[in-house]
Amino acid sequence: MTIELPTEEETRRLGQALGEATLTGGVIGLIGEVASGKTTLAQAVLAAWRVAGPVASPTYTLIHTYPGRIYHVDLYRLHAVEVAGLGLEELFEPSARAVVEWADRAGDILPADRLQVHLSHRQAGRHAAVRAGGQLSGEALGRLRAAWQR
Ligand SMILES: Nc1ncnc2c1ncn2[C@@H]1O[C@H](COP(=O)(O)OP(=O)(O)OP(=O)(O)O)[C@@H](O)[C@H]1O
Ligand SMILES: [Mg+2]
Repeated sequence: MTIELPTEEETRRLGQALGEATLTGGVIGLIGEVASGKTTLAQAVLAAWRVAGPVASPTYTLIHTYPGRIYHVDLYRLHAVEVAGLGLEELFEPSARAVVEWADRAGDILPADRLQVHLSHRQAGRHAAVRAGGQLSGEALGRLRAAWQR
């Protein structure tokens, strides 16, 4: 699914829809260059998961943990080989919810069954490509698609 995001407001709207599509659990990986909107999107996902905001990206602390087995992960400062030794796999059980910035630095530790969002710059706005890697995330993508077209 590809989506044009002409304004920051649209990035927030996509984040909210992503969060609502994953209320029962799931991993959302965010990939995109600097300033592509990863943190904006993650904040809206967390708001949809009822995390009281505002939340800052865990760029230095790696993980922010919230009640209800909700995790906000930022792998910016790490390389895949380092991530592999951290035991983060425990965060990514099916009933947990996690949004992971710089997911391309995660190596193999993220479950294949996740939503992956690739953000890129477009003139003034941004472009998002969302794909699912398995059954649960495929169902979430179906919910997202239905909600987005409304
Ligand atoms: N669709 C959009 N159109 C225009 N600007 C946007 C859009 N989405 C987000 N922005 C803006 O882009 C800037 C960067 O957003 P954000 O901090 O979320 O990016 P990031 O990917 O987390 O960056 P970094 O890698 O530096 O942490 C912010 O000023 C934000 O308001
Ligand atoms: Mg950021």
